[in-house]
Amino acid sequence: MKIAILGTGMVGRVHAKKLTELGHDVMIGTNDVKRTLEKSKSDVWGNPPFSEWHKMNSKIKINTFSEAASHGEIVINALKGVACLDVLKKLKHNLNGKILIDISNPLDFSKGMPPTLFICNNDSLGEQIQYALPNVKVVKTFNTVNAMLQTNPKKLYEAEHHIFLSGNDKDAKERVTEIIKKWYGWKHIIDLGDITTSRSTEMFTSLWLSLSEALKTPSFNIKIIYKTRKN
Ligand SMILES: NC(=O)c1ccc[n+]([C@@H]2O[C@H](COP(=O)([O-])OP(=O)(O)OC[C@H]3O[C@@H](n4cnc5c(N)ncnc54)[C@H](OP(=O)(O)O)[C@@H]3O)[C@@H](O)[C@H]2O)c1
Repeated sequence: MKIAILGTGMVGRVHAKKLTELGHDVMIGTNDVKRTLEKSKSDVWGNPPFSEWHKMNSKIKINTFSEAASHGEIVINALKGVACLDVLKKLKHNLNGKILIDISNPLDFSKGMPPTLFICNNDSLGEQIQYALPNVKVVKTFNTVNAMLQTNPKKLYEAEHHIFLSGNDKDAKERVTEIIKKWYGWKHIIDLGDITTSRSTEMFTSLWLSLSEALKTPSFNIKIIYKTRKN
């Protein structure tokens, strides 16, 4: 299947690698291909320059955001939160009718660590993306776990932990559920409801940041334990 990934950061890279290993035709999108390939320094998180990573993953195509968005039958949004709306609005015509798996979080690092949320409470980035692109089927997911776990949930307790979905289109959510299970190996997926439920997973980032500080690792997730009213 032709898949586009918008974003060359850690999230974009892990999804591109995994999906290519599964045999998909993956194109990763960036602002400026030449500039991205010329970067020679690791990023602030210590990830190697894109070109270094790309040498080891040379099957993955790289192109501009618009070429990538046109290429993908399904598109993954792995853009920096503050850049999402501007970039995605320009891609409206390349994305219309498609499923957009939205992994972004509305994090503002402008005042240092820990980041704050630049959208929260009664709004979310997921909603803003959906309202800006009404003909795109936005499904928010993966944003509550670290990039490495997103594509390899079995790294933790054989995937006995949870991930969430938010979105307005029922069929798109079913398709994404299938993908998350079959391609990535997730077992426990909770459909939270329409795209407004992105508010809760995006605000979870705040607890995620505190936990990663307290546990001194980004490799953790939550397991939801519950009983139904009938029990
Ligand atoms: N890292 C994680 O473990 C994790 C976990 C859950 C959710 N998320 C969310 O997933 C998204 C991707 O995270 P990430 O850590 O992989 O990468 P990131 O550094 O947040 O974003 C990288 C991408 O954003 C683009 N970008 C950055 N600033 C831009 C600007 N001003 N205008 C246009 N494009 C811009 C970059 O373009 P170029 O390609 O041109 O450089 C690059 O493709 C974020 O929204 C993040 O909050 C991350």
